[in-house]
Amino acid sequence: TPRVFSGIQPSGHLTLGNYLGALKRFAERQDQGVETVYCLVDLHAITVWQDPDALRQQTREAAAAFMAAGIDPQRSILFNQSQVPAHAELAWLLNCVARLGWMNRMTQFKDKAGKNSEAVSLGLYAYPALMAADILAYHATHVPVGEDQKQHVELTRDIAAKFNHDYGVDFFPLPEPVIEGPATRVMSLRDGSKKMSKSDPSDASRINLTDDADTIAQKFRKARTDAEPLPGDMDALKDRPEARNLVNIYAALANEAPADVLARFEGQGFGSFKPALADVAVSVLGPISGRMAEFLADPAEIDRILGQGAEKAEGISSPITARTREIMGMILSR
Ligand code: TYM
Repeated sequence: TPRVFSGIQPSGHLTLGNYLGALKRFAERQDQGVETVYCLVDLHAITVWQDPDALRQQTREAAAAFMAAGIDPQRSILFNQSQVPAHAELAWLLNCVARLGWMNRMTQFKDKAGKNSEAVSLGLYAYPALMAADILAYHATHVPVGEDQKQHVELTRDIAAKFNHDYGVDFFPLPEPVIEGPATRVMSLRDGSKKMSKSDPSDASRINLTDDADTIAQKFRKARTDAEPLPGDMDALKDRPEARNLVNIYAALANEAPADVLARFEGQGFGSFKPALADVAVSVLGPISGRMAEFLADPAEIDRILGQGAEKAEGISSPITARTREIMGMILSR
């Protein structure tokens, strides 16, 4: 049976990239008759330093963002990772399956560790094996993610296949990455070669889901672009990453094909495109930030929802990890 699993790190304010690349698509999947499991991956967040009070707040904020984007905790399982023991447990078991050579090829680790790779946490290095555990603990078949997570889902497939092969079982299904739509890689507003990221030091590089209408309009107005007018088709934007990014953002927000957006704005400059883009963004994000604020007014209720989701998540994942241990030869007598 198909089961969707995905996660988001509560390591800062969620961005427009997280919304278009992930949340919006998570909500769409909910109505397609498959089981959907969505996780706030706080264990992943602590691979880099998180102030404890800030982490708690960011986790509630991310939960509010999920619900404001249309994820319904009655129809989807929504929970924070650390409340379900299967994640850390299976991560250890899979640490013993994954090979160092595979981990060494992870581009996100190389980017995050930079030149100072001796000083980063061991957790940052093991991060992709924890992500594999998240997915495999639910026998998930489909993993909707942005482009930047593709390599991690492929690693998950490699780990699952090696486990099945080494133990001579057909236990873990190989999960498919699902990377679809015009916004699988939303770029920074300041640099068309970098992805929009919650951890970018420049707040002007991203739209946060909590930004108000004026801030959104101002950030798009100041977004880096070139001086050319918009062309009639996407091919002509091949070497104009900033322009292409803004057209893709518009298309994703308006639920239109990028080609249709260009057909309408062909020949116009950014002086007219940017305000139109800001209008669409405000019309989509305004209601979301409004609903987020309503949810955040009752943090105890958010915590209750996450606890309920964790119970449901544990119901699925705990038999799977127990069986994994048994397959590996560990005594299971309770
Ligand atoms: P994270 O928290 O960096 O991002 C959450 C999701 O948002 C997508 N995303 C983007 N999509 C388009 N454009 C962008 N600029 C952009 N920035 C982020 C990401 O691709 C992701 O889908 N390791 C994961 C979290 C994770 C996970 C998992 C995901 C942990 N366990 C299991 C799937 C399954 C991460 O750091 O995502």
